[in-house]
Amino acid sequence: MTLLDNGTSEIINPDTYFQTHTPSRTLIEDEIRVKEFVNKHHEAGRKIVLVTSGGTTVPLENNTVRFIDNFSAGTRGATSAEYPFIISVVWICGYIWGGINKSEGGINSSPYDPYLLLVNSKYASKMKFVLEKYQEFKKNETLLLLNFVTVTDYLFLLRSVTNIMSVLKENAMYYLAAAVSDFFIPAQKMSQHKIQSDGGLTLTMDQVPKFLKPMVTNWVPGGFIVSFKLETDPALLVDKSRLALMRYGHQIVIANLLTTRKREVVLITQDSEFQIKLTEDEIAEDKEIESKIIPELVKRHYEWIRNASHTGL
Ligand code: PMT
Repeated sequence: MTLLDNGTSEIINPDTYFQTHTPSRTLIEDEIRVKEFVNKHHEAGRKIVLVTSGGTTVPLENNTVRFIDNFSAGTRGATSAEYPFIISVVWICGYIWGGINKSEGGINSSPYDPYLLLVNSKYASKMKFVLEKYQEFKKNETLLLLNFVTVTDYLFLLRSVTNIMSVLKENAMYYLAAAVSDFFIPAQKMSQHKIQSDGGLTLTMDQVPKFLKPMVTNWVPGGFIVSFKLETDPALLVDKSRLALMRYGHQIVIANLLTTRKREVVLITQDSEFQIKLTEDEIAEDKEIESKIIPELVKRHYEWIRNASHTGL
């Protein structure tokens, strides 16, 4: 299989993308659930966090047999949603193939039944915390779980959920940990049936339009948006994260390297850089870095709301 050089095809704009692609069959039902959830918590004066996690697949055939996946075990989103200082959560996560959670910890948290848990005894105390958290979510109805498979499912869902949540204005945080595919094959260029294996395969892929731009400027202009930047080359990480902040104009980029993402990240804002790192002792105790990331973000979100009220946001 040969991937042609990237950068050769024209990038379509986000509106054209939505006009030329079809959402998942569950989108309308998901929108109804999100509206109910958002209205209820908005009326109660609660803040809501949208957490996205998992990989987005790119099908190679319309009747899909093969697809390309983006790396993500879904752990970042799953562990982040567990921490108690998040009040209400809409969590959209990538589909878990065969019902087996790709994240670690010996837990089966199927998106269809987050309350059915199989626990490996090694992780018993950690899982007790997660279970209690789920029970609290369930009792208070403060967790809404939605899922996606393909990058197209994800983008339609993201647009719908953010549009509905825009009523919350600054009282919403958008925590975008999903690994969004950068390349795809447009539906109209895709093979209808299974590609036959009678030779090699050369793929030409188009670039997925960048959705952070319309999200920041049109979908949720008043929201607190935290995106993640994943790189494998340390020399690129901070510069590329800064570039994303400049380009999209949102509040925070969390920069992480594939190999060290569970131990250290850098929170980057327009005028600061703040490293969050687990100590050796914390690593030995199996502490999760999200237990440090989330309180820091919640603190910054409150500060931002305070400052925004002075600037008349
Ligand atoms: O799930 P884990 O195994 O725990 O791993 C967590 C993680 C490494 C996946 C997570 O921490 C992370 O970094 N997620 C973002 C991965 C990613 O998509 O990075 P990127 O550099 O390709 O994109 C940067 C940002 O641009 C993302 O916030 C993405 O939402 C946005 N983007 C990307 C593509 C696209 N077409 N439009 C976008 O808006």
